Amino acid sequence: MAGLIERYRDRLPFAAGDPVVSLEEGSTPLVPAPRLSARIGAEVHLKLEGANPTGSFKDRGMTCAISAAVREGAQVAICASTGNTAASLAAYAARAGLRGAVIVPEGKIATGKLAQALMHGARVIALRGNFDEALALVRALADQHPIALVNSVNEFRIEGQKTAAFEIVEALDGELDALCIPVGNAGNITAYWRGFREVGVFPRMYGFQAAGAAPLVHGRRIEHPETVASAIRIGNPARWEQAMDAMTASGGTVAAVTDAQILAAYRLLAAEEGVFCEPASAASVAGLLAHGAGGAERIVCVLTGHGLKDPDTALAEAGSVIPCEPEMGAVERAVLG
Ligand code: F0G
Repeated sequence: MAGLIERYRDRLPFAAGDPVVSLEEGSTPLVPAPRLSARIGAEVHLKLEGANPTGSFKDRGMTCAISAAVREGAQVAICASTGNTAASLAAYAARAGLRGAVIVPEGKIATGKLAQALMHGARVIALRGNFDEALALVRALADQHPIALVNSVNEFRIEGQKTAAFEIVEALDGELDALCIPVGNAGNITAYWRGFREVGVFPRMYGFQAAGAAPLVHGRRIEHPETVASAIRIGNPARWEQAMDAMTASGGTVAAVTDAQILAAYRLLAAEEGVFCEPASAASVAGLLAHGAGGAERIVCVLTGHGLKDPDTALAEAGSVIPCEPEMGAVERAVLG
């Protein structure tokens, strides 16, 4: 399957002949969720963005941001990140032959994401501060040096990420009442709404934030955001106004979900739907279960990142292994007992 820029070039800011840095991202599955649908009393589908090359939706934005950086002659790409943007930047920068640098909150990014960023050869800087501080610092740095800033303040990120809305509309023939999506820095909900508007489909946009990191819900910046969903541990989203506009204009809303609700949805998706996503992604389903979607009949929940990103949370939430001696009776008891 071709990458996003190749598939949607007529709707993206790339001309024929422009350099394209791609890992054949996008074209992710949209799978029905029968158990969840029965609980909600509506038709629920899951958009599995963890099926992207680095395991999150960030690759959609990154193919565009890094391709544009190469077109502009940049040598270095940088971002602040709670982990997934860092992993994606690192991979696409490696592929493009650019130097990658990522600033992450020390001790607050999931193990898989850290392993990815390091393996792809990015310079990983652990900031003794949170994501919001990291973003303010990289913005200032990019103002003073000729480096490509590829956080979702970069328009190319939004352009790439809007293509997920195109795919959903194609898969459902435009029949969609509501979209449920986790909100952190608020770039993704902004991107989906742009994509939907471009193809003339207007689902209600329901954004969900973790209760300890819910600036949009409270209408004010959160100084010390906290949540088990480390990817959305953000207190001052860069795309604040655009995210609010997406929800208001579409007739949706923003609401908070507790860590307990997030983890319950995380386990439910894995155990009942066979879908392993990371905790932040499960906020979309947690929100749907806790708050509903205004009586919508056909709903898509965006699962933004793969469960393998965060093995530590998975092992803390899952059952334990069964130790066993290498002998038939013991194996029988272990398997069938
Ligand atoms: N889900 C996951 C798995 C994420 O990694 C993020 C953001 C979001 C949801 C929220 O998306 O920021 O566009 O509202 N992760 C960023 C990062 C902040 O650095 O990887 P958003």
